[in-house]
Amino acid sequence: MQFIREPCQPYTAGITESTVFQGDAGDVLARLPDRFFRCCVTSPPYWGLRDYKADGQIGAEDDPRPYISRLVAVFQQVRRVLTDDGTVWLNIGDSYTSGNRG
Ligand SMILES: C[S@@+](CC[C@H](N)C(=O)[O-])C[C@H]1O[C@@H](n2cnc3c(N)ncnc32)[C@H](O)[C@@H]1O
Repeated sequence: MQFIREPCQPYTAGITESTVFQGDAGDVLARLPDRFFRCCVTSPPYWGLRDYKADGQIGAEDDPRPYISRLVAVFQQVRRVLTDDGTVWLNIGDSYTSGNRG
């Protein structure tokens, strides 16, 4: 397992082992190769619900429209880095529940 913080170069070194890239999703994805990954599993922040205390965090926009625009930009990158038969598993919602359904 390797851990890469904020890759600043296009990541062309070849990903041969489990790798954790830390950074803004859009920035990190933009540095990853085309048609490389078979699967994307993701749970983006919901809009206006949680503060993850991260600069530039998605979900803290004042209005849902820029939130949607940012997600669209991220998923356009996801589409680019996925193989043609790649899959996306997306968990997203508009609220969190405690799981207790009274
Ligand atoms: C709904 S949570 C999912 C967390 C994760 N699936 C888990 O089970 O711990 C959304 C995550 O997105 C992260 N996040 C927020 N803005 C981000 C951004 N611009 N780029 C990458 N991650 C971001 C938050 O810090 C948070 O950990």
